[in-house]
Amino acid sequence: MEVDGVTRLPRHVAIVMDGNGRWAAQRKLPRHAGHQAGVKSVRTSVEQSVKHGIEVLTLFAFSSENWKRPQKEVTLLMDLFMVALQREVKRLNRNNVQLRVIGDRSAFSGKLQQRIASAEADTAGNDGLVLQIAANYGGRWDIVQAVRHLAKRVESGELSADQITESAIASALSFSDLPDPDLFIRTGGEQRISNFMLWQSAYTELYFTDDYWPDFDAGAFDNALHYYAGRQRRFGMTGEQVPTHTSPDPTD
Ligand code: IPE
Ligand code: IPE
Ligand code: MG
Repeated sequence: MEVDGVTRLPRHVAIVMDGNGRWAAQRKLPRHAGHQAGVKSVRTSVEQSVKHGIEVLTLFAFSSENWKRPQKEVTLLMDLFMVALQREVKRLNRNNVQLRVIGDRSAFSGKLQQRIASAEADTAGNDGLVLQIAANYGGRWDIVQAVRHLAKRVESGELSADQITESAIASALSFSDLPDPDLFIRTGGEQRISNFMLWQSAYTELYFTDDYWPDFDAGAFDNALHYYAGRQRRFGMTGEQVPTHTSPDPTD
């Protein structure tokens, strides 16, 4: 999508996939039916991202706080993750999608860790969309692991305290090789970050929709792109210093 030679598409879209439980409750179904129904929306978001040529799509699948849920639901979510990892690799390869998982994977079972590693390895050669699944991810965890890494380098004399700069921290965070998210989408009606990418979202455009995640279809995804295309990103400057955004059709 280009207007006046300026690209209005986000390079990186990050989504908090929320509302599965309420989607299920609305239908008098158990919560896990909502999680299962949400898989279709994952596929749709990946397809739309590929279609539009978005570089990175990050999906928040399981937060570092989601362990507090009933054990049965946690187990079900892990099982669903296992199955999806195995089932979707072929489709990802067909679409030239590279899969990466961000978060503290050491808390997962050995079997799940293996499956994550093999799904990543099987798609590592793809150079299209980078699909990041945030699993046992927390924005605070990410900052802690980055700071710990830098502290170790200071301890060993490799780095001085003065060398702890914004860019040093940024480069120790997860996905430091990828652009920060340009567009944050949260489904399910809540307007909060819930410990998603805290550092990396400093200048991200925020988009909230009441749609429950299983109802988030291609049209809903494109609506979020429309919203983004209409934003003027100022990064601290005045409106006069940056080009004004119009609202082009993201399907152009
Ligand atoms: C999001 O849906 C999925 C995960 C957090 C794993 P929820 O399960 O949070 O759905 P609601 O918010 O209860 O409706
Ligand atoms: C955020 O959703 C995490 C994921 C979508 C994985 P939650 O449903 O866990 O968030 P809160 O608890 O309502 O803030
Ligand atoms: Mg929720």
